[in-house]
Amino acid sequence: MRLPAHGSNPDHLFSALGMTKPAEIVDFSVNINPLGAPGAIKDHWPSLLAEIDDYPDPSASELKQMIGDHEGVAASQLLPGNGASELITLIARYLHGKKVLIIHPAFSEYASACRNEDCTIFYHVVHPPHWQLEKQALQKDIENVDAVFVCHPNNPTGVQYDKPAVDWLIDACEQSKTLLIIDEAFYDFASDPVTFIQKAVRSRFLLVLRSLTKMYSIAGLRLGFLAGQQELLARIQKTQPHWSLNAIALKAGVLCLNDQQHSRQTRQYMDTERARLFSFLKENEFLHSPSAINFYLIKDPSLDDQEALFQFLLQRGLVLRHTYNFPGLEGTWFRVAIKKKAENDLLMEALAEWKQGN
Ligand SMILES: Cc1ncc(COP(=O)(O)O)c(C=O)c1O
Repeated sequence: MRLPAHGSNPDHLFSALGMTKPAEIVDFSVNINPLGAPGAIKDHWPSLLAEIDDYPDPSASELKQMIGDHEGVAASQLLPGNGASELITLIARYLHGKKVLIIHPAFSEYASACRNEDCTIFYHVVHPPHWQLEKQALQKDIENVDAVFVCHPNNPTGVQYDKPAVDWLIDACEQSKTLLIIDEAFYDFASDPVTFIQKAVRSRFLLVLRSLTKMYSIAGLRLGFLAGQQELLARIQKTQPHWSLNAIALKAGVLCLNDQQHSRQTRQYMDTERARLFSFLKENEFLHSPSAINFYLIKDPSLDDQEALFQFLLQRGLVLRHTYNFPGLEGTWFRVAIKKKAENDLLMEALAEWKQGN
């Protein structure tokens, strides 16, 4: 593969392809809220800055209380982390040497974290056009492993699985004593957000993972949390470094969760833009995944190899996320984030131009 594995660094991408990077680029590979962080972060910045003199609260009590109130669970049923990524690493350490099933295509960090811990990795691949869970095939796969990762809504497809299918998966994992980790990093971008947190706090075999970096556009601050039973969280927390969460992130998290208007507005914005983009794609004969959130997969079905389209867009400064390192996709689709309206317009203009010339 000539392309950098992660795909989210445009400089690496242009140099790997031997292309000159245009002066202006729009990075559609980044799937963070285009409306930015809640205004309260900027407004309170002087008081956030004042936090840096002291060590952060290692028990993250204020943030845990706030998340607990928000989600209707006890603070003891939550484990905050330095981004959801840190928690994925901690889960992988907890699973050291075990057999892990990943429902794919999915976020690549589950596999890399588990591989670093000498886990044996198995894949269950979901397929287009619906990209839904298939119970019969899954049942067999679950029985052979110690843990299952599922991303819901899924990155990179953006698809929300049918709720009864996820409920079934939770029950099936419980019965076979398999730990199920549901990654809900993007759940709050859906107009009808579905969460399994209430089930997680009642089960020894279920964890729900959340990120605050996507919706609240604070990827540079790092903040996420796990919800589950206290004893299980305590075992996972064992290898977490002391003071893992910085003091600014702890306070910023509280400010973000206080601003529910921000996530409501984001959902409305996403609904409108997604509908506009999908109707354009349909009219122009591109295929897309039936995403419910802030990114989707696309391809031009008239092409055997999508790379020409990728390069055509790169020449115009429009950077999509390639999918060569997603088992089940292998570069046959691109992931595209829903960005600001003017940026989405640029993409549609370029795609229309591509269709006219092909
Ligand atoms: C599905 C999914 N889970 C977790 C993460 C990690 O999020 P965080 O920024 O909170 O570490 C990402 C980041 O891209 C993601 O796509």
